[in-house]
Amino acid sequence: MSPSLEARGLTRRFGSFTALDNLNLNIQGSKCVGFLGPNGAGKTTTLKMFTDLIFPTSGEALINGHSVRADRKRALASCGDLIESPEIYPSLTPREALELVGAVRGMSAPDIRSRTDTVLHEVKMADWADSKVGRFSKGMKQRVNIAAALLSDPEVVMLDEPSTGLDPRGMAEVRSIIRELKRENRLIFMSSHILSEVIDVCDEVALVDHGKLLFYDTLANVNARLGKGATSVDLAFVRPVSDADVASRIVNLPGVTGVSRVDPQRLTAMVTGGPEAQSQVLEQLVASKLGLLSFQPSRSALEEVYMREISQGDS
Ligand SMILES: Nc1ncnc2c1ncn2[C@@H]1O[C@H](COP(=O)(O)OP(=O)(O)OP(=O)(O)O)[C@@H](O)[C@H]1O
Ligand SMILES: [Mg+2]
Repeated sequence: MSPSLEARGLTRRFGSFTALDNLNLNIQGSKCVGFLGPNGAGKTTTLKMFTDLIFPTSGEALINGHSVRADRKRALASCGDLIESPEIYPSLTPREALELVGAVRGMSAPDIRSRTDTVLHEVKMADWADSKVGRFSKGMKQRVNIAAALLSDPEVVMLDEPSTGLDPRGMAEVRSIIRELKRENRLIFMSSHILSEVIDVCDEVALVDHGKLLFYDTLANVNARLGKGATSVDLAFVRPVSDADVASRIVNLPGVTGVSRVDPQRLTAMVTGGPEAQSQVLEQLVASKLGLLSFQPSRSALEEVYMREISQGDS
C-alpha cells in the first residue's frame, strides 16, 4: 500500500479564533508535497494535528488510513516528523541523542544502532556521530533533527520549515538532503516559506491562507495556471528606448498587455500566456534590434500563483 495523508474536515479553533477551517486534503503515494501559506495560515497547526501534538476541534487526520486520534499508535508508527526544531542537549552526541529518540519510539537496541549509522550518513553527519551537539552550527543541529525524524525509516515524513533560520549553505545542505530522502514508498509533507526550495524539491503544493485550503495541485499544473494570468517581466536595454519605440515595437507584441518605464534603459512589461508567450515576446524583442540586454520574468510561476491566490483571499 502506498503512503497517504488525509485530512477530513480538519478544524482547529483556539477560543473563538479558527486557526484551521475544515481542511480536506487527500495526498496519496510516494512524493514530496510542499505546504505553503503566509505566517499564521495554519500550517504548523495542521502538522501538529497530524502528529497528535494538538487535537482537532472537529474533523480527522489520517496517516496511511489510520486515524491519528482513534488509532494513534498505528497512525504514527509509520510517521517521522520535525516540528518546531527541538533543542538537543548540548552535552549529547548525535549517536546518544538518537538512542534516546529510538528508545522513546520503542525501537529495539540493535535496530537503533543500525538505523543511527544509516540516518547520520543520510544527513551527512556520520563524521560527527560522536561529537557533542553543543559545538555544532544551527545547520548541523537541524541535520541531526532530520536524522531523528528518519530514525524509524518512516513512510511518511513531516517537516515544518526544515531550512528556516539557516544560512545559505545550511539551507542548500538541507535541501539536498530532502531531495535524497525522496524514494519509493515515502511521502514527504513539508511546510516552507522558501518558494525556490519548494520548486526545487517538491512535486506538488498545497496552499493555505487564513486556515483555509486555497489549492492542492502538482507543480506542473501551477505552471499551467500561470498561463491564465499576467507575469511582469523586467527588460533592460544597452541604450535608451524611446517612447515611440515602446509604442510601436513593444506594446503591440502578442501577449504584452502593458509596458511601464523604470528608467530610459529599463522597462517592465506585463505578459500573459505563460512561459510559451514569454518566449515569443523575447524572440520578437531580440529581432527588433532595440539592444535588449536582459529579459527577466520577475517571479517564478509558483510565486506568481502564490501572490495571486493570497491577495484574492484578502479582498
Ligand atoms: N496555542 C495557540 N493558542 C492560540 N492561538 C494559536 C495557538 N497556536 C496557533 N495559534 C494561532 O493560529 C494561527 C495559525 O498558526 P500556525 O502556527 O498554524 O501558523 P503557520 O501557518 O504555521 O505560520 P508560520 O508560517 O508563521 O509558522 C495563528 O494565528 C496563531 O496565532
Ligand atoms: Mg508554522
